[in-house]
Amino acid sequence: MSFTVVAFLLTILLFGIYDARGLLKPKHNKVVVCYVASWAAYRPDKGAFSIGNLRPEFCTHLIYAFAGLNISSWTISSLDPWADTEKDVIGNYRKMTALRQQYPGIKISLGIGGWNEGSKNYSQLASSPERRRTFIASTIEFLKTYGFDGLDFDWEFPGSRGGVPDDKQNFASLVKELSDAYREPRLLLTAAISADKKTIDQAYNIPEVSKYLDHISVMAYDYHGTWDKKVLPNSPLRSNDGLSVEDSVTYLLQRGAPAEKLVLGLPMYGRTFILTKEPEESNVNPIGLPALITGFKGPYTGQEGFMGFNEICEALTKDPKDWSTGWDNDISTAYAIKQDHVVVYDNIKTIMTKVEYAKKKKLAGVMVWSIDTDDFRGDCYGSEFPIMKAINKVLANTTAFVAPPIAPNASSVQLFSYISLTLSIIMIYLTV
Ligand SMILES: *[C@@H]1O[C@H](CO)[C@@H](O)[C@H](O)[C@H]1NC(C)=O
Ligand SMILES: *[C@@H]1O[C@H](CO)[C@@H](O)[C@H](O)[C@H]1NC(C)=O
Ligand SMILES: *[C@@H]1O[C@H](CO)[C@@H](O)[C@H](O)[C@H]1NC(C)=O
Ligand SMILES: *[C@@H]1O[C@H](CO)[C@@H](O)[C@H](O)[C@H]1NC(C)=O
Repeated sequence: MSFTVVAFLLTILLFGIYDARGLLKPKHNKVVVCYVASWAAYRPDKGAFSIGNLRPEFCTHLIYAFAGLNISSWTISSLDPWADTEKDVIGNYRKMTALRQQYPGIKISLGIGGWNEGSKNYSQLASSPERRRTFIASTIEFLKTYGFDGLDFDWEFPGSRGGVPDDKQNFASLVKELSDAYREPRLLLTAAISADKKTIDQAYNIPEVSKYLDHISVMAYDYHGTWDKKVLPNSPLRSNDGLSVEDSVTYLLQRGAPAEKLVLGLPMYGRTFILTKEPEESNVNPIGLPALITGFKGPYTGQEGFMGFNEICEALTKDPKDWSTGWDNDISTAYAIKQDHVVVYDNIKTIMTKVEYAKKKKLAGVMVWSIDTDDFRGDCYGSEFPIMKAINKVLANTTAFVAPPIAPNASSVQLFSYISLTLSIIMIYLTV
């Protein structure tokens, strides 16, 4: 009898471990790619976000943004060596990849590029087979050194911003060669691509790069901003000007992007505008109103024309009387107005609608730019990371339970649990 009890307790214990581990990862089979802006650590006050603030259980993939390109050696390199590799002896690269120990199964990649890196240097890299070879070898070495699972390519964008028409073919070659070189060390290769149809045509041979990328995140935001000199949505679900999430996704699928590799990018920020004329009524719908070429800044991100979701919800919570808020149903976008200041943004409702859309289209999942501007302190809703939670809630709401992708370690634990459960049931049976 005591043996049965021991076996029974052992079973419970093992299930306990499995459950405890199971809780540490999203409960669905979709991808949730979370970019982490490494410079968010330098934001002031409550905006500062470092690796310690991260909650990886809301993500299946983390991407450290960004590394850069050294054009003297054509190698990948840190853009902030003090923070990435040296700070407190172990830098943020290793702090981030060490999260894998607590979150088995999570994939942690290094992003290279981003807006500030421009396009020209990448154009020159991609144009030469020899440079590509040097670069590819350098990435394998670099990723291994810091323990990353893969590389995320964020060249913005082949064929524009100082690039050349040949970039399209050269980028395809670079992606193919990277993929070949990554097969044996089993490194992931992903990319973030433009959502703009014209840029897509200029930049990507979609069927070709789709063969070699593990997934492709479409940056379905920045459709509009102060440059339009009109209040227009940052990331509308639909629109009648061809600039919307649905337009981009439909276009990419038509061009041959496989749905099971396509990841829908979600903005965790809004865009700010200053109206040329303060509206007479505070509860006007500002979409379409004329605006200045410059917007205003959020207190933490300090970037003109941009406000993180945390900054928006903090402003609305702090001065609810000053702001009037609304919702444009045609484009599925939230807005808030305070005198001549306007912010258009994705709230929890729009994000959930987009995640539903990604599910409906059977996409691989969703990506967020970037997790560091969710309400990560829980100041607005009394709960931390309300957007990340909402995303995972929608994804977990499947018609039937689907087991999450299980890490090799976790699955051996699970197998062990099943074996001991079976054993203990047999033993209970025999004893009774
Ligand atoms: C770029 O590479 C060159 C040559 O290897 C090296 O001397 C230089 O320090 C590197 N620059 C950076 C910023 O890493
Ligand atoms: C299991 O986890 C340990 C520590 O987290 C790791 O060193 C080992 O490589 C993992 N094994 C597999 C098969 O992934
Ligand atoms: C291209 O590389 C050079 C040399 O490393 C660097 O000075 C320059 O800033 C890079 N271009 C952009 C747009 O970042
Ligand atoms: C789950 O999905 C169904 C069908 O899409 C929807 O009607 C329901 O409201 C969802 N439940 C939650 C809790 O999101």
